[in-house]
Amino acid sequence: MIILGLETSCDETSAAVLQDGRVCSNVVSSQLCHTGFGGVVPELASREHERLIVAIADTALSEANITKNDLDVIAATAGPGLIGAVMVGLCFAQSMAWALSIPFVPINHIEAHMFSPFIDGGFAKDGGLTEEDPTRGVPEEPFISLTVSGGHTLLSIIGTDLSRRIIGQTLDDAAGEAFDKTGKMLGLSYPAGPEIDRLAKQGDPSFHRFPRALTSQSQTSRSYRNNEDFSFSGLKTSVRTWLQKQSPEYIDAHRADIAASIQDAIVSVLVEKTVGAARRRQVNSIAIAGGVSANSALRAAMKKECSRHGIRLHLPSPVYSTDNAAMIAALGELKISRGMRPERRYSTAPFAGMPTGESKA
Ligand code: KG4
Ligand code: ZN
Repeated sequence: MIILGLETSCDETSAAVLQDGRVCSNVVSSQLCHTGFGGVVPELASREHERLIVAIADTALSEANITKNDLDVIAATAGPGLIGAVMVGLCFAQSMAWALSIPFVPINHIEAHMFSPFIDGGFAKDGGLTEEDPTRGVPEEPFISLTVSGGHTLLSIIGTDLSRRIIGQTLDDAAGEAFDKTGKMLGLSYPAGPEIDRLAKQGDPSFHRFPRALTSQSQTSRSYRNNEDFSFSGLKTSVRTWLQKQSPEYIDAHRADIAASIQDAIVSVLVEKTVGAARRRQVNSIAIAGGVSANSALRAAMKKECSRHGIRLHLPSPVYSTDNAAMIAALGELKISRGMRPERRYSTAPFAGMPTGESKA
């Protein structure tokens, strides 16, 4: 089966071709037009997707050495995301599927992230699985999924039949937002997550202890021992007030140490919650996804904790951590392989927010 995936939910225009589970192409164009605005400007994002979508899809087809007539199925993000941005990819994908008379599969962007550690057979190098491992790249349901991006921090349990149940989520800022906003306070450019990751490598994580809300390491740990929700707004306030008390020279001299300390606070919360959720439920497999899953300290700490507790860890290749269309095509293919019949109605409406609670991917 040859499937074309399209992704336009935020500021990446992406198209990918998968053939029988193998990624043949994955073209990602990251929008630069938001630089200077401190975040993504929705209207600019939609216009940029509109400008690029045809060329990106064409490039994905030609890099895969196929033409549109070779396609069997098209999948695209239907949400959640910026509604205008989602609309561009979704309309394009459904029109193309209709014109080619092939089925269309709408994909939930966050669910695609959840399964991204399994794309292309898994990743021995980063995923902690060996080349010989027979389960490499195969979703092992049930598994605990930690999805950490700029807009979401979700802890879910993925059951058989691709069902998912959210067991914890952020009460305020997402983990990626915590990286981006505290990084901005440190004078780093948007998105600051990768920059903090890079800086922190030269810093001391124990330089300053920032708060770790709703964990056993927080001052109010007693009442929050088994809480599976997250909160990062206190960290943000704590970084701001602490920075205000320091001189610019001191901040300058210790920028890497501060970055490492912020990163350590975020990472230790994510690790404690995720591993705790798996152990409480005796679930033996964890998969981490979303932009923040590219963070090197998170990867290292998760690997260490999971191996300590005999839990199998699945991590996406960094190229599939951030937004990409390969994950959209991959979930489309997985759904079809699990018996879902793709529709030929081409009338899926876009949605902006994440449907909560239980659902089937
Ligand atoms: O999944 P994603 O590409 O877009 C959505 O938000 O849907 O995630 C982007 C987020 C940003 O907040 C960015 O700062 C963060 O992922 N991020 C990182 C790293 N790479 C991306 N955060 C920490 N360390 C990284 N290496
Ligand atoms: Zn995303």
